[in-house]
Amino acid sequence: MLLVSRPIKRGLHGQVQVPGDKSISHRAAMLASFAHGRSCVYGWLQAADTQATLAACEQLGATVQWRGDEQSPVLQIDGCGGRFTNTDVRLDLGNAGTGVRLLLGLLAGQHCRIELCGDASLSRRPMGRILRPLLQMGAQFATADGVPVDHEQEYRLPLVSLGPGNEPLRGIEYRMPIASAQVQAAVLLAGMQADGVTTVIQPGECRDHSERMLRHFGANIERLDASTLQIRQAPLQAADVVVPADISSASFLLAAATLQPGSDVRLPGIGVNPSRNGILRVLQRMGAEVEQGSVSTAAEPVCDLRARAARLHGIDIPEQWVPNCIDEFPIIMAMAALAEGTTRVRGAAELRVKESDRLAVMSEALSRLGVVLEEYDDGVDVIGLAAADGELQGGRVDAHGDHRIAMSMAVLGMRAAAPVEIANAEEIATSYPQFVAQMNQLGADLQWQ
Ligand code: S3P
Repeated sequence: MLLVSRPIKRGLHGQVQVPGDKSISHRAAMLASFAHGRSCVYGWLQAADTQATLAACEQLGATVQWRGDEQSPVLQIDGCGGRFTNTDVRLDLGNAGTGVRLLLGLLAGQHCRIELCGDASLSRRPMGRILRPLLQMGAQFATADGVPVDHEQEYRLPLVSLGPGNEPLRGIEYRMPIASAQVQAAVLLAGMQADGVTTVIQPGECRDHSERMLRHFGANIERLDASTLQIRQAPLQAADVVVPADISSASFLLAAATLQPGSDVRLPGIGVNPSRNGILRVLQRMGAEVEQGSVSTAAEPVCDLRARAARLHGIDIPEQWVPNCIDEFPIIMAMAALAEGTTRVRGAAELRVKESDRLAVMSEALSRLGVVLEEYDDGVDVIGLAAADGELQGGRVDAHGDHRIAMSMAVLGMRAAAPVEIANAEEIATSYPQFVAQMNQLGADLQWQ
């Protein structure tokens, strides 16, 4: 199947309710499943990635029930009380990188034999970054054919988590080599089950959803300074969670409204956690008109956003901003293609190990639409077509099964001279199943063919 995005003449108009935050939904499912007691989760993202995590939690022994009605479903989870009851299962995490990496941390403290696998894309992604600190804490892992995992090599799925062996996990001081929220989360989830203190030192800011949610579930976690977190053993207690709308999903709508002349789009209740809202800074610096309503902060800061059409210019993206908007680079590159001047990104080699090699796949797709760019090992220069009064061509591109690339190309199709046909776009369902319907509701012309 191809996703076809046809050029549109009018602006995008209206309001849509963007679905729940993927990062927060994964964490809510896992912490509620591990805690003592019954938790209710409001606004939980129902998409393929988070469903894979929830199914894994059920397989491990959590009891999951849906309450409420179709308009406002409530996810009710009875947790396992700190010990998973099913100790010999095989979990298929599909495309869910966050699901598998955080589960590796949680399972590290559990006396279980759990096999973890995923789809072709997830099976290509590096897992050594997660396994190394967990091995230091005393957790044991093996490859699917039974070879013990060591510190030296890179590993990929399938993997088997064997738990801590005869000794309990021990706390460590871990200096993360990369600013990765997934690595930080995995170490914290193991650390809350370990003897002694676990200290995580991060080289740059990464999203702090784990810290916030662990605190919300009663974990003994402390922030020592901007880069250092400490966790000690403590049981998790059930808690209710309200999941804000996903700013990463919202970014496609913000970009579409910005790029399409005459647009005015409103998005209520978007999560704007400062460790995660770099896309808003990028949009502002490029000249977008995104208005933020007043921010309400419960466990996570949330506000309404409104985007109107604006002319964009190219910018140099500061390297320290990169982790803060790491998932938004496909749509940033798409916007850069229609901006005036050059947009430069460096220090973003992590983009090569996401759901696809996002630097390569986006560069290939943009080139097919006539965009001039130069790819570097850790970034890209995109030369905006507006500078040369150039026109974005239509044509066929390949999203390589990467949801965020598919959605970025769909946004560009609206401004191209001819339809953009996107192959391997079905994975949009991993994070934003309502994307096509919501875009069309605002005035886009997207169709599966
Ligand atoms: C995520 C962290 C990021 C991000 C991913 C979700 C999370 O990955 O790209 O989509 O929920 O912790 P890294 O931690 O590997 O940068």
